[in-house]
Amino acid sequence: MPETLTITDNRTGKQYEIPITHGTIRALDLRQIKVDPNEFGMMSYDPAYLNTASCQSRVTFIDGDKGILRYRGYPIEQLAEHSTFIETAYLLLNGELPSATELKSWEDELNRHSMLHENIKKFMEGFRYDAHPMGILLSTVGALSTFYPDAKQIFDKDGRAIQVARLIAKVPTIAAYAYRHSIGQPYVYPESELGLVGNFLSMLLRRVESPYKPNPILERALDVLFILHADHEQNCSTSAMRSIGSSQADPFASLAGAAAALYGPLHGGANEAVLRMLATIGTVDKVPNFVKQVKNGEGRLMGFGHRVYKAYDPRATVIKDQAYRVFEETGKNPLLDVALELERIALEDEYFVSRRLYPNVDFYSGLIYEAMGFKPSMFPVLFAIGRTPGWVSQWLEMLGDKEQKIARPRQIYLGENERDYVSLDKR
Ligand code: ACO
Repeated sequence: MPETLTITDNRTGKQYEIPITHGTIRALDLRQIKVDPNEFGMMSYDPAYLNTASCQSRVTFIDGDKGILRYRGYPIEQLAEHSTFIETAYLLLNGELPSATELKSWEDELNRHSMLHENIKKFMEGFRYDAHPMGILLSTVGALSTFYPDAKQIFDKDGRAIQVARLIAKVPTIAAYAYRHSIGQPYVYPESELGLVGNFLSMLLRRVESPYKPNPILERALDVLFILHADHEQNCSTSAMRSIGSSQADPFASLAGAAAALYGPLHGGANEAVLRMLATIGTVDKVPNFVKQVKNGEGRLMGFGHRVYKAYDPRATVIKDQAYRVFEETGKNPLLDVALELERIALEDEYFVSRRLYPNVDFYSGLIYEAMGFKPSMFPVLFAIGRTPGWVSQWLEMLGDKEQKIARPRQIYLGENERDYVSLDKR
């Protein structure tokens, strides 16, 4: 027997049988509930989408209570240990891990698309010397839309595959150029021998070395960080990507919007905010007072809490482990002790325990990035590189989903009723 939810409308005494599929009722099935046949019908009200599924997806699974994250069924811990960012990107996009031949041709394709048009370089030079690299990144990705008018053919499968490769390959190059711009150094062109992450490090850090050899520990740590950030189902930026994409905007414009959503301090900007918070606290002895301020409502403990995870974020566990490996190479980040003390106190404190607030992915990532020599303003940019395959995979899934239409939420209007215009001299 099909599962249903019985709703009794006390206003009319009528009963409704609402079908349940995958533990969910369709909001549209509520529309039949009305007192007067001319009414619009019942809606559900869910500010910030706390309890609303906006799509069906086969990309990423999260169980926030158990601290589980899987891409296409593969546990994040296994991918972080055995996979690479390029391979994980392929997995997210295609649903399966690549064969050796598929992986090689995917790597070649990304290499081929990693260059930027010279005019993009000139475009980027227009930003002020101290422009935030995330602002540069999202504007430049948006500008790519004007370089690839063919990207508007979003229903052309082959054309779409080219735009996908362009995005995944060019975002690291734009990110590196944004960084070089902010430190006033010449841009370094991509090199095919180094692989995506090694090449990214070369474009960021290379001065006069020839050949440039990335530090393998730092390269692997960055690779793992990109894997951990690669997708996280329907978060704020991914929903932005889907929402913009639902109007059939091209993927460059949609991804620029997703990057803008990521920029905010409650989302991808949190790792930057964590570092600034740790630097403001400064020393371990100041931690108790800071925690007290947070509990008094004076600011948040950045890098703590998550809309979905109500247990330890599995990505934070992997990152903490990577942090120690990186610190063996670079020397310990002095703010690590402040972070560890914050975590220790917060995990015992009733305020955080009762609200199930645990460290999230951003709590330790900033410490690693800083130890690697990145400025805090680059942290959200690094997040964006990692998240690009996820945004694109979700966008592709949305385009292929026959149930999706242009995203257009409803509202509950609580404003004025109709009233007559009052001329200026009577106000
Ligand atoms: N510090 C202190 N208190 C917090 C924190 C925090 N970091 N996070 C949540 N709370 C408190 C809230 O004040 C609220 O308390 P109340 O019930 O007494 O009012 C309660 O916990 C629930 O918080 P909400 O804001 O309702 O939780 P929501 O799911 O909307 O927010 C969010 C999730 C935005 C991540 C939040 O926990 C936060 O602001 N964290 C800090 C920023 C951060 O680290 N963001 C990165 C998230 S991971 C990512 O985007 C990759």
